[in-house]
Formats: sequence, structure tokens, C-alpha cells
Amino acid sequence: MKKQIFILAILFSSTFKLLGQNVYEIDATKPGISVSPRLYGIFFEEINHSGEGGLYSEMVFNRDFEMTNIPEGSKMAGNLVRTKNDWQERKIFGNELYGWTFLSKGGAIGDIRLQTIKPLNEKNPSSMRLIVTKTGSRSGVYNSGYWGMNLKKDETYNLSFYARTNNSKKLDVTVSLESPNGNQIYAKKKILNIGGDWHKYQCFLVPNLSDNLGRLSLTINQADTIWLDVVSLFPQKTYKNRPNGLRPDMVQMLIDLKPSFVRFPGGAIVGGMNLDNRIQWKNSIGDISQRKGTMNLWGYYTTNGLGFHEYLQLCEDIKADALWVCNPGFSDNYRKAEYCKPEDVKLYIQEALDALEYALGPVNSEWGSKRAANGHPAPFHLKYIEIGNEASGQLYNENYKQFYSDIKTRYPNLKIICNQRAIPNGKVEIKDDHKYGTPQSFISAFNKYDTTDRKGPEIYVGEYACSRGVGEGNLLAALSDAVFLMGLEKNSDIVTMSSYAPLFFHVSDKAWPVNMIGFDNSKVFGRTSYYVNKMMAENRPDFMLDTRSGTIEDHKSKKWFSISGYDQKTDEVIIKVVNIDSLPQKASFCFRGIKLTGQPAEITELSHKDCNAENSLYNPNVIVPKKNGFTVFNSGFEKEFPPFSFSIIRIKVTKPNYIKATLKDNSHRK
Ligand code: AHR
Repeated sequence: MKKQIFILAILFSSTFKLLGQNVYEIDATKPGISVSPRLYGIFFEEINHSGEGGLYSEMVFNRDFEMTNIPEGSKMAGNLVRTKNDWQERKIFGNELYGWTFLSKGGAIGDIRLQTIKPLNEKNPSSMRLIVTKTGSRSGVYNSGYWGMNLKKDETYNLSFYARTNNSKKLDVTVSLESPNGNQIYAKKKILNIGGDWHKYQCFLVPNLSDNLGRLSLTINQADTIWLDVVSLFPQKTYKNRPNGLRPDMVQMLIDLKPSFVRFPGGAIVGGMNLDNRIQWKNSIGDISQRKGTMNLWGYYTTNGLGFHEYLQLCEDIKADALWVCNPGFSDNYRKAEYCKPEDVKLYIQEALDALEYALGPVNSEWGSKRAANGHPAPFHLKYIEIGNEASGQLYNENYKQFYSDIKTRYPNLKIICNQRAIPNGKVEIKDDHKYGTPQSFISAFNKYDTTDRKGPEIYVGEYACSRGVGEGNLLAALSDAVFLMGLEKNSDIVTMSSYAPLFFHVSDKAWPVNMIGFDNSKVFGRTSYYVNKMMAENRPDFMLDTRSGTIEDHKSKKWFSISGYDQKTDEVIIKVVNIDSLPQKASFCFRGIKLTGQPAEITELSHKDCNAENSLYNPNVIVPKKNGFTVFNSGFEKEFPPFSFSIIRIKVTKPNYIKATLKDNSHRK
């Protein structure tokens, strides 16, 4: 037998070497490793306004006037926040009433001030005082949202705000949706008899014109004083029309990635600039007027309107499992971490256990009942918890062990992810690996996991992106990501999960150089890496097939990569090919142990002659996948692949005998 295989191998390599530069034999005589159904996921962090002014549909910028809330013990130094551990972070929105401007027309006089007397509640200590001393034709205040409000004709917007006056005197407030200079009013309502102590007021507004640079104004027609807080404007059309919901076009981009899980809330943000600045999930649930916002370490203020419940709801809505990252008892390692006292570690563990109870506990538990009160009696699909982000060192090891044991005792089925591969005297189930770098480093990582110890923990590549020397995310970056992902797929018996990072960026405020999905207030587009990810997830095979190259390969200058696998649901062989050469490349594929049906093969291809080309907001389709068909012959095929291309070929075959008629379900939700 061995002798026969040897002869076949010689025949294969010598015959096909003559035909083309790249020759492959796909051996389907037996299945290779199973491909993890969890391999392709999403990483979400509040960075680049991915949530505030992005996925989260709130249209008012600085709705709660709490932008001056900086981490405890920190000081402002110019536009920097300096923590007590002497870490500095830029704060770009220096003006305490950022987003708000006094509106004066026809000689109106007055002003707006930040005030802390008689606060709305203790989570919202600041409010805005509007004084009008002389009314002109219009006097009040306006907010232009996140670089303009995207108002759509005939759509309904829900406005709500809290207001109080100095005494029981009542006044009327006119609320309008209008053009950037206020000269055109698209929708207007008068709210009568506002006054006395804090009360919530709300109404619907329906603009009669579309304007994506619109604004919201609140005006009074008498010389008077009024305090405002939590001024909120939401389109009624959010994803699934959920109140306090998400932007449908951005959610759709995520759904199209077919993610098996969503990791949230980060990222470095989990640790924060100091412990006070860590993600505190309890500040992010319930009525929006009761949430406490914070200045985040990416330079802007976050209301926490997109909070723990909304993240879990998003996962459920897009049919992905939830992966929540908890704080391990210290702030971000790369920002002069502040450590909690050893005797306080239990408090941080309790914070994590309470979150788990909120997500998973019965409705009669303390936190499960809050979940039910917030509209979701059934437990959420929280399947993973990661203890810390990019944390290391002796303290991490010690804290991790305590977190692990207390969480496992209460939630034995939960998968626990560790930042380290090994913890002395501790158990690691899944290790989170991060990788950012140049194209070369990504390309040479194709075989990185081939030699990983299979007896060790599973690997989750929780953050990766070819992000250096690739513009803002060009085709070369995407092809390098593709090579790396193919390296994960062929090793997904051990690398079971992955997620690109960061996910979103607002084109008007980007804190991170290369990201996957860009947007402004009305448009959204995918960088080419987005499409690579989408193609990989749409074409995840159930098991790999041995793909032998008949070419002698020079690993250092390798510009050509190929893997293949089998899709049990459709009985197709899936071949993935990356050509990082500036020239077209020919390749020949032959098959062993499998019959082709002779039906046309489907090819999805992404390519451009210039590897520096990029998609952008106004030119989103420079490099997007295109589908085609081509004929394959029964024994194999030869094909030319364009320069700088990523191609996926699906070929119908007859089911091999070793696949049982009843399929094993290989979807991520069993
Ligand atoms: O993805 C951006 C940042 O990179 C993450 O917040 C952090 O974990 C990593 O260093």
C-alpha cells in the first residue's frame, strides 16, 4: 500500500509540474480535521465611535451633559486626562457642553451653562441651564448630533428629555428638527406647560424633508430659565424596532459576516485608564436616565446607553453566542495598570458573577429579575467569559485562578478564556492570542499553528489585523489577512475561534489606524478585510482535505497559498486560493478519492491590479467579491488566478462513502 501511494505521489508531482507553476492534489480519500463551527466571530469595542455615534442609534451628542466625568483621581492637563498613575490620554471634546450651542435669531440674548445644583439623579449630576434674557425671533439651544443628524423624510423620531424650572412657573418649549443653519424647519411641536421639578417630556417628530446634516433645537418664546437633562432623539426604525436600539444598516453588516459569537465590550476598555474607568456593567443597564457614563480611553465620552443588556440582545438578534470580557481586578496593562488590593479581588469576582447572573440566572434571582424587568425573562446565550484583556504577570495568574474556580463552580458549562497559555497550578481551557502587524508577518504566519501542541488549550485569536504599512486597510492587508485566516482554518482543530479587531470606525473620529467597517451618520462600508472575513465565514467547510502541493516551494518568497475542505450540507469541495503576486498565476488541481459531478463550479473572487487600492465611504466598491461560474472536468482543472486576488471555488462532488447519510450538525448553535 505504502509503495502504491509513493508511486502515485511521484506521478502526481512530475506530471503536474509540467502543466503549471502551482499544482495541487486534493486528497479526499479520508476527511481531515473538523473545522470549528465557532471559528469566525466578531470583536466589538467602544473605539472610533463604534457605539456612541455609530451602532447605537442615539442621535444627540452629549445627551446627558456628563462629558466632564473623568476617571476618579484624574486631572485635566490641556486636552489630556492624567490619571493618578500618571497615564495620559487625549480628551478631544474639551468643551464641557460639547455638542450644544445657544440658538439666537433676531437679536435673542441668553446663554447655556453646565450646572450641578439640583441634579436629575446621582448618576447624572450635571444638567444644562438655558437662560434667555431677551427673546428674538428664536431663542434656545441646538444639537447637531454626531457630525450632523441623519433625518429621513416621513420617518418617525422619538424625542424625550427631562426639564425643570426654578419655581412652579410654566413655560412652553418648541422642539424642531431642522437644517444645519436652522433656516428650514422639517418638523416642529410645542410642548406646553413645562415647569416645576424634574419631569420627563416626550413627543414624536416626523420631518417633511431628508437632511443628513440636520439638527435638533429646543426653543422658548419668553425670557426665562430652564434646566435640561438626558435629551434623547432616536429614530423609531432601529434594528427590529427596539427602543434604545441599534442602526439597522450597521447590524446588517454584522449579520452578513455570519458570526458565531460576539466578543464585547473590548479590548483595552475592559481595564480602562484606571480601575474607576474600567467597564462597570452595572452602570450600563436599565433606564437611560439612570446610567452613568464615562470618558473612555479612546478619547471620548460614552453614555453607556449601549450597555450590557443591549450587547446581549444584539447577540441574540444576530444569532451569535455572547462572549463577555470581565475586568480581572486591575486596569489596562499597557496604561500603567492600577491593581486592586488582594483582599478586594473577591469584589471583582462578584462583579463578574453578578453579570453572569444577569445574563443567565433564573428570573427569581437578584440579577436575573433585573434582566426580566428590562424586558428579557429568558436567559441570554452567554457562552464564554474571558478574564481580562491582554493581561499578564503574577497578579493576573493569581486573580485568574480565583476567578476561574468561582465562576466554574457556579457556571460549569461556561467556557472560560484566559489571556495566558499556562497558569501555574491553574487550568486554561482557551487561550486568547492577539496579532497585529505587517503583511509579511501575516503571510509568514500561514503555518504558525501547524506545530501548536494539540494537548494544550484551544486557541482563540481574539484580535488580529494586518494593520501596519497598509494605508487605512488596503487590498494587501486583506490578502495578508486571508492567508492568516487560511492558516487558522487548516488548524482549526486547535484554533477554534477568531475575531478581527477593531470592528467599526466613524470616518470623522478614528483612534485606531486600520479597522474593518467604516461609517458616517448615513452610510456604512466594508474595507476589503471585511469581505475577506465574509467570504471565509460563508465558505467554512466542515472538514479540511489534504491539499498537497506538487511544486517545490520557497517559503521565504511565497506568494501563493491554497487550502481546501468539504461542505457536507452541499457536497462541495471548497478551494481557497490567495495570489499575492502582481502577475496572474496559473494553477492545476486534481482530485483523489472523490468524483466531480461535472456541474459548473462557482467562483467568488476579490482582486484588483493595485494592491494599495482601498474601499472608502464614497467609493465603497473598489474591491468587493464577484461571483462567476466555470466548467470543471471530471478529473481536475487548470485555472488562471488574477494578480492580487483571493478566490474561493466551490465544486460539486458525489458524496464520499465515509460521510454518513445523516449529517452531524456542524453549526455553532447545537
Ligand atoms: O483593537 C484595539 C486594541 O488593541 C484593543 O483595545 C486592545 O486589546 C489591543 O491592544
